[in-house]
Amino acid sequence: MAFEEKMEVIKSVEPFVEQFISEKMKNPEECWQPADFLPDFADSDFHDKIQILQKSIANVPDTVLVSLVGNMITEEALPSYQTFFNLLKGMNEERNVSSNGAWARWSRLWTAEENRHGDLLNKYLYLSGRVDMKVVEKSIQQLLHNGVDLQTDGDPYNGMIYTSFQERATKITHVNTGKLAYKSGDLALAKICNTIAGEEALHEKAYKFFMGKIFESDPNGGLAAFVAMMKKKIVMPANLLDLGQRRDNT
Ligand SMILES: [Fe+2]
Ligand SMILES: [Fe+2]
Repeated sequence: MAFEEKMEVIKSVEPFVEQFISEKMKNPEECWQPADFLPDFADSDFHDKIQILQKSIANVPDTVLVSLVGNMITEEALPSYQTFFNLLKGMNEERNVSSNGAWARWSRLWTAEENRHGDLLNKYLYLSGRVDMKVVEKSIQQLLHNGVDLQTDGDPYNGMIYTSFQERATKITHVNTGKLAYKSGDLALAKICNTIAGEEALHEKAYKFFMGKIFESDPNGGLAAFVAMMKKKIVMPANLLDLGQRRDNT
């Protein structure tokens, strides 16, 4: 299919993006916030609450903490993901971050929701006292510094295939980390992981729904994008994390 026709298909999916937003996405006022899961420093018993938190996470093995840090670092590179989405062809032709276009709005709703994931995990890990936060913070900065290459070549079909799989992968990793946290006795952490996983599930549903509409309008183009992305394999968002020195030296 010619490029112009592909852009037409992307445009034709906009009403379905609107539909998903209005039916499934919550307003910020209705959403949970990281503070709902964390001790409040304004409370007189905040010392006790932090002690409880640290006692709960004490038996969570280092291997689980490594997963948790990996999940958190991935979430924290969110500015790159919003940029990635808006650079996909046809998603924000106005080049306007406050665009009212359905796709641009979706990208903001999606990333605004995601932003709470990194915030919550970051704060929980900070309060846990179990990880070297400075090293973790350096990794986050390094990842943002390096950017992302999700191997979609700016193609919106590739982008929808990519995000469908990536959200699914993120859902699975949060669910599994939550199960291990539960097993180790940190029920608060398990609840956090499950809550985040629930939103990843919703995002997976969104991207599969959007891609389904593309398949309906352009089955050949959709399948070609699916094949292309499967051949490349779905790289995870933090795949450039270890680029560090190499990129600095270029
Ligand atoms: Fe997330
Ligand atoms: Fe996600």
